[in-house]
Amino acid sequence: MSPAAARKIEARHRPMVEVRHLSKIYAGGVEALNAISVDFPEGQLTSLLGPSGCGKTTLLKIIAGLIPATSGEVMVDGRPVTGPGPERAFVFQDFALMPWANVLRNVAFGLELKGVAQSEREAVAEKHIASVGLGGFEHAFPHELSGGMRQRVGLARALAVNAKVLLMDEPFSAVDEQTRRKFQEDLLELIAREHKTFLFVTHSIEEAVYVSDRIVILSKRPSQVSAIVEPEIGRGRDPDQIRRDSAYLDTVETIWQSLKRYLD
Ligand SMILES: Nc1ncnc2c1ncn2[C@@H]1O[C@H](COP(=O)(O)OP(=O)(O)OP(=O)(O)O)[C@@H](O)[C@H]1O
Ligand SMILES: [Mg+2]
Repeated sequence: MSPAAARKIEARHRPMVEVRHLSKIYAGGVEALNAISVDFPEGQLTSLLGPSGCGKTTLLKIIAGLIPATSGEVMVDGRPVTGPGPERAFVFQDFALMPWANVLRNVAFGLELKGVAQSEREAVAEKHIASVGLGGFEHAFPHELSGGMRQRVGLARALAVNAKVLLMDEPFSAVDEQTRRKFQEDLLELIAREHKTFLFVTHSIEEAVYVSDRIVILSKRPSQVSAIVEPEIGRGRDPDQIRRDSAYLDTVETIWQSLKRYLD
């Protein structure tokens, strides 16, 4: 992308998450990230695409404050990240659902930690359980749910604490293609409804092109930003029509050509 085009993107949306010269070398010497710098604009869904093992989960975990960087800095809403915080929520399948607690308590858990009264936190939790399509499952336990449903519990919990930034690590990877497409539609609806900043890791180029405002393509480990693509696929139409459209297919092909060189 040209510097002029990059400036145009930056001018339109202020960055909610700013990653500056971030490096991560794990104990044992694996260099996962090498001075990576990238912005994630407010109110947008940005996908991270890159070869397996390039450091996507590492980057998300550092932004979440779950692990420290070796050097460099992450700013969220203008403030440096020094640990986990309520303005960021990590969503991925099975992540930290409490197996002994039902859906309602799992979703209300972040509010429980904040000391919100039981009746109030349950009312908020019920609203978000319904909004992710799990109404009626409030009293089910995690082991009684499918993988996709558990992922929705994680999403409802992130929404209940009203996080500004949702960090999603391959949230749809464990579901069949049909369910995945339904989730993609639900996600687009959620984005339209809630003004939040989404960072979304996926292995699927098609999925990234379909749901993203912006796609950051990462190189092989230690990863750096290899390209940034902004799909313009004319959302809000029949999904099947979009997927047959040349704008969609061309973007998928361009990204594939850019990622292909990283295959061993
Ligand atoms: N806790 C850890 N200790 C040591 N090395 C690690 C640790 N976690 C990840 N790594 C290494 O860091 C590199 C990046 O891992 P990471 O999980 O961030 O990649 P990824 O892009 O998310 O991969 P995938 O697409 O397969 O999920 C890999 O080489 C991995 O082996
Ligand atoms: Mg990963």
